[in-house]
Amino acid sequence: MNKKPPRISSFDLRAGDHLSDKYEVVSRLGSGWEGEVYLVRETGTRIERTVKIFFPRRNPGNRALRFYARKLHKLRHCPVVIQYHTRDSFEFKGAKVSFLVSEYVEGELLSDFLKRQPGRRLSAFQAVHLLHALATGIEAIHNVGEYHGDLHTDNVIVLRHGLGFELKLLDMYSWGAPNAENIQHDVFDLIRLFYDAIGGPRWYARQPQEVKDICKGLKRSLIAREFRSAGQLSQHLEIMEWR
Ligand SMILES: Nc1ncnc2c1ncn2[C@@H]1O[C@H](COP(=O)(O)OP(=O)(O)O)[C@@H](O)[C@H]1O
Ligand SMILES: [Mg+2]
Repeated sequence: MNKKPPRISSFDLRAGDHLSDKYEVVSRLGSGWEGEVYLVRETGTRIERTVKIFFPRRNPGNRALRFYARKLHKLRHCPVVIQYHTRDSFEFKGAKVSFLVSEYVEGELLSDFLKRQPGRRLSAFQAVHLLHALATGIEAIHNVGEYHGDLHTDNVIVLRHGLGFELKLLDMYSWGAPNAENIQHDVFDLIRLFYDAIGGPRWYARQPQEVKDICKGLKRSLIAREFRSAGQLSQHLEIMEWR
């Protein structure tokens, strides 16, 4: 039987709704192209978890879910990556819908954190700390030959912000098998995130040389020449000197 997946574009679950008999919805955390993300509580234990429910059309043959689950599992020893728990399914309007269960990370989305900074941007000094936390976190991913694939401020959670940043990454994207190009792409996305965090094009000309030595005017070839992986970028930050 080769039935077409049903066309579902929203689940719109409410607090108190149940997913199978195992999880109770607490609130919606986000919704995107692939599906919707909810904070849930495991019935019986009351433990909080996050579920990502896939729109069947975005997850034919469970491919999207399987990719994400396997990648999270492979990266389970990388402290920056959220922990995968299990997969499950529930019935929605007569269709069987799959979801992925991961740990719930309590913190603030990096995009929200940046919005509430004075002038909606970080100082160069703070941003270097942010970039360093991201680069060292992603270094562990690159070291096992993997890549993230979708680094931006809505996929980073700030757990703690003090002398430095403690972060968690979510939501990876598959551009196919890992290779040097995918890893290079992560490095570029990291530097662009840094560039945006310090105010983007409006403030770039006024940034100190140390910042320009990192951003290189966002020229991909220049960035690729010096930083081939997140590890090389974090190393650069560790030995750089403010003039
Ligand atoms: N494990 C998690 N813990 C806490 N919040 C999460 C978690 N996973 C996702 N979120 C929230 O849900 C939003 C959407 O989840 P995400 O996995 O990025 O899916 P998508 O971008 O495909 O909708 C995130 O931006 C974040 O705010
Ligand atoms: Mg996302």
